[in-house]
Formats: sequence, C-alpha cells, structure tokens
Amino acid sequence: MLDGKKSIFSGMQATGTLHIGNYLGALKNWVELEDEYECFYCVVDMHSITVRQDPAELRKKARALLTLYIAAGLNPEKNCIYYQSHVSAHAELSWILSCYTYMGELNRMTQFKDKSAKHSENINAGLYTYPVLMAADILLFQSDVVPVGSDQKQHLEITRDIAERFNGIYGDVFTIPEPYIGKVGARIMSLQEPAKKMSKSDENVNGSIYLMDDPDTIIRKFKRAVTDSDNEIRYSEDKPGIKNLIDIYGAATGKSVNETEKEFAGLGYGDFKLAVGESVVSMLKPIQDRFAELSKDKEYIDSIIKNNAEKANYYANKTLRKVQKKVGFPERIR
Ligand code: TRP
Repeated sequence: MLDGKKSIFSGMQATGTLHIGNYLGALKNWVELEDEYECFYCVVDMHSITVRQDPAELRKKARALLTLYIAAGLNPEKNCIYYQSHVSAHAELSWILSCYTYMGELNRMTQFKDKSAKHSENINAGLYTYPVLMAADILLFQSDVVPVGSDQKQHLEITRDIAERFNGIYGDVFTIPEPYIGKVGARIMSLQEPAKKMSKSDENVNGSIYLMDDPDTIIRKFKRAVTDSDNEIRYSEDKPGIKNLIDIYGAATGKSVNETEKEFAGLGYGDFKLAVGESVVSMLKPIQDRFAELSKDKEYIDSIIKNNAEKANYYANKTLRKVQKKVGFPERIR
C-alpha cells in the first residue's frame, strides 16, 4: 500500500525483444489497472548486467523498452515507468536484504542454476544475488501485487520469505506481495513449438511475433506456423498449433472460440493462418505507429524519464529510510 492505494510493481529486462505473448499476457492487461492501483513498471537495467552486455546496446534497448511501454498504452502520467538504475534505493535495499537472505535459499533458485550453466564463463556474484535485488524492487514500493510469468514465481516466493523474515524481526515494515492473477488471458505459445510458451530468448525467431515485426514478416511467420495434418479449425488440446492460433485470433479480434470456429468452418489452414496474421498486423499497427512517433520526440521521453525517476525515488526512499532506521543505521542530520 502506498498512500492508501494498493500498489503494483513489475519489471522487465531490456534484453530480448517483446513479443505478442508479452503484450497479450501482460502489458495489455496492465493498462486497465492504472486507476485502481499505484503502478510501477521498471526497466531493470541493473539486473541486465548480471550477463555481459554491450553498453551502447543496453542503453538503446532500455530506452526502446521504456518507449514501448508507453506505445503499448501505459499512460506515463499514471504509471510510473522508470529505469531501475535511476533509483539508488534499489541497490541500497538490496544490500540490506542480502543480510537477511540465506545462501541455502539462493542455492535453490532454478534460474541461477540454469543461467550459471548457460554462462559458465561468468558465474558472478550478481547472478547469484539477482533474486535479492528483485526482492528489493518489489518491497521498496510496498507492492501488493506483482504480475510475473511462471518462470519468476520462485523469485516472488523468496521475496515473500525475506519480507516475512524481516517483518518478523522488526514489525510490519513491508507489505507481503501476492502474485497477480489477472484476467485469464490467453497463454500464447510458440508458433514453431506450440507446446512451449512464446519466449523472448527463443533462438528460433520464427516461433515468436515481435511487437516491432513488419507486416510481411508477421504474415510469413503465421504461414509457417506449425499445425497438424488434418485440416479442421477446431479448438482442442490435441491440436495445440490450431488452438494457439485460435487464441491469438481471439485476443486480437475479441472473437470467441465459437465464433472463430464458425467463421472458418469448411475453410483450410491457409486461409485461417492468413486471417490470424492480418488480425495481428492490425493489432500491432497502432502500437508501431505510436512507437515511431514517440521515438522522434526526444524531449517528451526525456521528461517522462526525469519525472518518473523523481516519483519512484520519492516512494522508494520512504521505504528505505524506514528500513535503515529499523536495522540501526544512524539518523541523518539535516
Ligand atoms: N526477473 C524478472 C524477469 O527476468 C524481471 C524483474 C526484475 C521483475 N525485478 C522484478 C519482475 C520485480 C517483477 C518484479 O522477468
């Protein structure tokens, strides 16, 4: 809770490219929360350097992600969209919380195990304490709810454990965050392997439709989408490819499964794939246009970055000061 209002926090890494699964499963739904909640959407650039990055590239991608948040419909006057590295309280709280986190807990994190296997040449301490920084992100804003994908559930669990431990010692300092169970939006699967979720880190770019893909690319990817060998457009667990396309079509057009099945009864996969592709092209067009427009307006984006960093700093420092006092740091003399 912040100033009597429930708060939401979520973060995204600027590495990797946003796809329609991120949009339909997350961003699109967040737009509706802006009146009910105090919302914070952070570009977590500090998390990104746990893996080596090209500096110019990281800066560029971080700005693109921040711009894309706005292009996708988040009103930056109502949603605090900001860079993690502009709010030093993240690092400060992270240090304090690391003293209340056990190595045994961090050892169990599956993402750490996966990433250290993948980056065996660079298993740095930041990769290991990554979940502590994430806990700091969330707890700084007294977040009630945190929208996260299934791969981040374990990190949210450890955040709750750390917060409960801290509160157990010092009293009610942190709000205990819950995962955000939004409207059960469609779970968008890979176009190439419909049993797997569409993923930012998928090496096969044909499996994902990126928000910035041009119309030809989108249509081509849908034409190549993996389906099955019968030719019936029917929503069924044993037809995962077609099921996924029906879900995407439904999300893009607002049509129900039933309506879609009727609309395409008697037609073949070729026609259907083209229609799904076209519906996605239309869904993304306004976002892409807005992104292009915003990207040209340097002053406007800069002002958002500045104002929102101030807002985030204000709330974050409020929590940080409280925590510093609790653990026994000396008072600041003004
Ligand atoms: N670790 C998250 C991811 O890779 C990103 C993240 C960082 C985050 N801090 C967060 C998500 C706080 C939710 C809340 O997806």
